[in-house]
Amino acid sequence: MKHLLSMEELDKDEIISILHEANRFSLGETWEPKDRKFVSNLFFEPSTRTKCSFEMAERKLGLDVIPFEASASSILKGETLYDTIKTLESIGVDAVVIRHDQDHFYEELVGKIDIPVLNGGDGCGQHPTQSLLDLLTIQQEFGTFHGLKVAIAGDILHSRVARSNALVLKKLGAEVVFSGPTEWFDQEYLNSGKVCSMDEAVESCDVLMLLRIQHERHGATSHLSPNEYHQQYGLTLQRERRMKKNSIIMHPAPVNRGVEIDSDLVECGRSRIFKQMKNGVFVRMAVLKRALETN
Ligand code: CP
Repeated sequence: MKHLLSMEELDKDEIISILHEANRFSLGETWEPKDRKFVSNLFFEPSTRTKCSFEMAERKLGLDVIPFEASASSILKGETLYDTIKTLESIGVDAVVIRHDQDHFYEELVGKIDIPVLNGGDGCGQHPTQSLLDLLTIQQEFGTFHGLKVAIAGDILHSRVARSNALVLKKLGAEVVFSGPTEWFDQEYLNSGKVCSMDEAVESCDVLMLLRIQHERHGATSHLSPNEYHQQYGLTLQRERRMKKNSIIMHPAPVNRGVEIDSDLVECGRSRIFKQMKNGVFVRMAVLKRALETN
């Protein structure tokens, strides 16, 4: 069963293989399953990129998409996630994409259902397809991960993107450093990389990976105004001018313009933010193919 639940379950060869497949899709190659296949996208948290690009990927692969709206489903009558997925499996759905606010939501499903689950983001846990599309974007830019310095900056504690990317980038040979408010770090990150100021990060990195401030997960812990955050930890116009010649800017989006990044830099020459979104379709085609052809 080829679930995709976290980046930790993928070894280096599997990651390279998914990226290779995604790159082929980016060059116009196609694939269709031998038999008709049905998929459903279950999003229990808001999403624009992940939901729409999974749907785009599914349609490009000729899959039948069974609509599911959490707000109009029997979840509202108290049905569990397990019973919901078991229902979809029973009626003939071949794979599900799930985004959920609960970390590790998939633990109640694995081993008990017979269709692949693709994690579209679990709480503060993991976002494996975002990580893969980030890797594809870096690989297309530099051709390798070895020797690259990647700075992950911002709301690290609440970010499933940081969690997914930090370990895998190190596994692939990149150096990872972290920057941002120290109250948004946890020991796991402090152990797995180096911490530096935003000024040091922007001047030394090849890839600046900015993170969205996850206001919805903060409660009352945000203490800086948007402008204070921008000046202390954001990518200002002045900081961008000090970046290395061929370095790139990434952000998983949605972007808080003027906070994590100056609005004028979102589409600047070194920004790959919309390239990341484009690559999201190809990566999702690759993981859907991997899930369905081996199921
Ligand atoms: N990057 C990302 O996951 O965006 P969405 O929340 O819009 O899917």
